[in-house]
Amino acid sequence: MEAPIPPRLTVAMDLDRVEALSADLERIAEDREAAQLMRDLVGLFKARVPHYHWVGIYLLHDEELRLGPYSGKPSPHVRIPLGKGICGAAAAERQSIIVPDVNADPRYLACSLETRSEIVVPILDGHHVYGEIDIDSDLPNAFNEHDQALLERAASLIAGALRRAHPMPEYPEPEAVKR
Ligand code: SME
Repeated sequence: MEAPIPPRLTVAMDLDRVEALSADLERIAEDREAAQLMRDLVGLFKARVPHYHWVGIYLLHDEELRLGPYSGKPSPHVRIPLGKGICGAAAAERQSIIVPDVNADPRYLACSLETRSEIVVPILDGHHVYGEIDIDSDLPNAFNEHDQALLERAASLIAGALRRAHPMPEYPEPEAVKR
């Protein structure tokens, strides 16, 4: 006899999950310096949100985004010039960008063939761009306004920690975050 087809999983972010994750965000941000905070938030998102298949943070140095902490497969895009790709566009425009279908967006720089959708949220202090949070999903149209709100809160906590950081964390090489 054939096995029954499992029910479709509902993966989209909803308010309950945003609330639970926001509480964790605030707790983690309380006592961490910037590099540890970014590492822990990458680990938290990758471990706790099933539709986040690749999670990374890029920091802007000399008009170039450099990949710092990340979780998922290693990316070929460890340095992205400002304005290039979805990542470069979000940093240049200082705006979060949700791309429901990466293959339909001419700006998209492919990181993995499995990736179907992407969200990029800049880490801002007023007009100043510190960098951004970049998340890829292997599911099409995986990101909604709740993901955006959650990640914008995370970006603001990271901006606060970076404002206090002496020296600023730098990433000559990307840092794979272990779970
Ligand atoms: N897709 C990004 C490049 C970074 S990888 O997704 C990790 C972009 O288009 O800018």
